[in-house]
Amino acid sequence: MLAGLKLPTDPRWVNLAEKNIQEILSDHAYCEQKAATNCITIIQMFPEYEEVIEALMPIVTEEWGHFRMVVDQLKKRDLSLGRQRRDEYVNQLQTHIIQGGSRDHQIVERLLVAALIEARSCERFRLLSTDINDAELKEFYRKLMISEAGHFRLFLDLATNILPKEQVMARWEEYLLAEANIIANLELRGDRVH
Ligand SMILES: [Fe+2]
Ligand SMILES: [Fe+2]
Repeated sequence: MLAGLKLPTDPRWVNLAEKNIQEILSDHAYCEQKAATNCITIIQMFPEYEEVIEALMPIVTEEWGHFRMVVDQLKKRDLSLGRQRRDEYVNQLQTHIIQGGSRDHQIVERLLVAALIEARSCERFRLLSTDINDAELKEFYRKLMISEAGHFRLFLDLATNILPKEQVMARWEEYLLAEANIIANLELRGDRVH
């Protein structure tokens, strides 16, 4: 399974999403906005990590570009961007971040959470790219899936450049289990990406 995710998305999710295009696209737009914002936050919090800063600066632009692309998809369908919702998935993931410890540990925690969100988004975009009926959205999600897979890889690589690989992968495994548990307990909804 993609990126080692422990629990595949319930296949019924695509059918639900397809019935809520305005809501799913709006929620997706905000996922892209949050991805951009999160990169900016990491840059603000950890300016001394030059390799991370260099890598994340272009990702901010790319994620914001994704936001614009999703808004364009809404416009094409005469749909408008809805309001942002509470992101239960991300909120729950963030409760697993270990606070304190060294700067290295703090930044690695945040890079791993970012990697997880990318991995799950990528898995869901893949489902949309294969199972949705709308041909244009199929292709749209195929391209985004490739992009988010690259981000997943990048966040994980940045983390293993900061702390020893075995240590990072052991923590990654814990995060994967926690993420699967969150997904298993979240209500299956077609109006949210997660
Ligand atoms: Fe993105
Ligand atoms: Fe991304």
